[in-house]
Amino acid sequence: MISKLFRKKSVDQIMTDAHQGSGLAKVLGVRDLVSLGIAAIVGAGIFSTIGLASYEGGPAISLLFIFTAFACVFTALAYAQFASTVPVSGSAYTYAYVAFGELFAWIIGWALVLEYAVSNTVVAISWSQYFVSMLKGFGISIPGWLTMAPGYALDAHEKFLTDGMEALSVADRAGLDAYLSAPRIGDIPIIFDFPAGLVTVLVTWLVYIGIKESQRASNVMVMIKVGIILLVVLGGIFFVKPENWTPFAPNGLNGVMGSVAAVFFAFIGFDSISTTAEECKNPQRDLPRAMILCLVICTVLYVAITLVLTGMVNYTELNVKDPLAFVFKYVGFDHMAGIVSVTSVIAITSALLVYQLAQPRIWMTMSRDGLLSKRFARVHPKYRTPSYATIVTGIVVAIPSLFFKMDFFVDLTSVGTFFAFILVCAGVLYMDYSGLSAKSKFRVPYINGKYVIGLGFVLAWVLIYLYGQESVQEWQQMSAVDIIRHKSLVLVFWAVWLVLAVMGYRLNFSLLPVIGILINLYLMSELGASNWMIFIAWLLVGLIIYFGYGYKHSKLNRGD
Ligand code: ALA
Repeated sequence: MISKLFRKKSVDQIMTDAHQGSGLAKVLGVRDLVSLGIAAIVGAGIFSTIGLASYEGGPAISLLFIFTAFACVFTALAYAQFASTVPVSGSAYTYAYVAFGELFAWIIGWALVLEYAVSNTVVAISWSQYFVSMLKGFGISIPGWLTMAPGYALDAHEKFLTDGMEALSVADRAGLDAYLSAPRIGDIPIIFDFPAGLVTVLVTWLVYIGIKESQRASNVMVMIKVGIILLVVLGGIFFVKPENWTPFAPNGLNGVMGSVAAVFFAFIGFDSISTTAEECKNPQRDLPRAMILCLVICTVLYVAITLVLTGMVNYTELNVKDPLAFVFKYVGFDHMAGIVSVTSVIAITSALLVYQLAQPRIWMTMSRDGLLSKRFARVHPKYRTPSYATIVTGIVVAIPSLFFKMDFFVDLTSVGTFFAFILVCAGVLYMDYSGLSAKSKFRVPYINGKYVIGLGFVLAWVLIYLYGQESVQEWQQMSAVDIIRHKSLVLVFWAVWLVLAVMGYRLNFSLLPVIGILINLYLMSELGASNWMIFIAWLLVGLIIYFGYGYKHSKLNRGD
């Protein structure tokens, strides 16, 4: 049984399956791929969650963006190596099948559902918020009960009953209004986020009718998006007051690291490029280039935007959902604020498009391997897109976006994505070890980590001893139960570093993937324990599906 769980696919086998089963149109070049990458990365994160992140961490959030980008570069290199070796649609799922075997492949595929489908729920909800406020700008109002998840309205009503009207913020008042004005079935108010559901259906339709159509729409949206971000940066520079950058990290390291989920959410998506591998003209050459190129472009844009926002307005003002438009309203540049609002709607639409494009392609690959029902691999005879999987993705995103609040999904998505990234970096170590790397047309630059990983470990402890006495004391005052409850992830981080140091010494591990694993794991350990519990529950559901279906139906099983 154990050997079956870890049965692997060979690269040749994967390539043959892909060629036999595909039928997808090969039309994408580097420029298209970079455009898809930017479309995916720049979305709800930078247009929405950056506001709250800056409010909590101050201008130092720009450093967190650099730090996160750093983690992503190592991961992107690892993705690029895999994509150049196994250029098929499954992304990290396929890579894990090659490196770690079927069970891990399934687990990663299941985690990728969080990254693509679940994160798109956040993007759809955020789109709806921008859309509603844009319409308001044009003097059009939609009834409140049609524009939000019921949770927001119920919470606002609850708050009103306990604390009274004065305690309600502007958003709470909108929630209360929705609660009171909603039509009712018996006592139950009917409240849902109609624009979020509608946009998901429309985008799913676009993705259904063809990759080239989706690509054209995406290219236009990306040009507008990058254009507006440059405009915000260049226009905003004139309003920057350097004194707003002091204090740089008003809430210290905790304030900055508390925003990891929001900032990381903004960065995820560059890997979605790899899911279009079968639709690229020259995947081995173009995928690695595109991934790294778009990561660099986005990092520069993010850091510039953060510095401009926190330079234009004091960070304490940035607790808003539409920070990019807000800062221009704040400095009295209303026209610009209007342009930014309209463009944000377009920008967020393009992010939505890419994830609706990526998810079905991963399911298609999993289905080809027998881990999901055959229907997920069905390619539409006319449109040449994975039709059934695309419709299922539409349903999976549209329904929760009608009824759920977004915060929960931001955190959950981040945990799932870190998890997938760590396994992809680890996969490169396996490729080196097994000799598979020799087949890669792009390789993560090799720097021998034999001594450096261990030396880094020792150096980190020396630095903690010299400069981190405060946190040492904090740990000393905690009981063992508290340490397990609140710090177990930190313990996992150090344990993994130690194991990597020992194995790296014995096997001459490549340094860059190891750094990728450690930075991702460190950032992951900054997320709350409750997110982890939900993620573990998610994995358990995935395992039930695997043992109920995939284990038996796997092509590798049938071939046994
Ligand atoms: N990076 C994507 C966004 O910010 C998820 O919308």
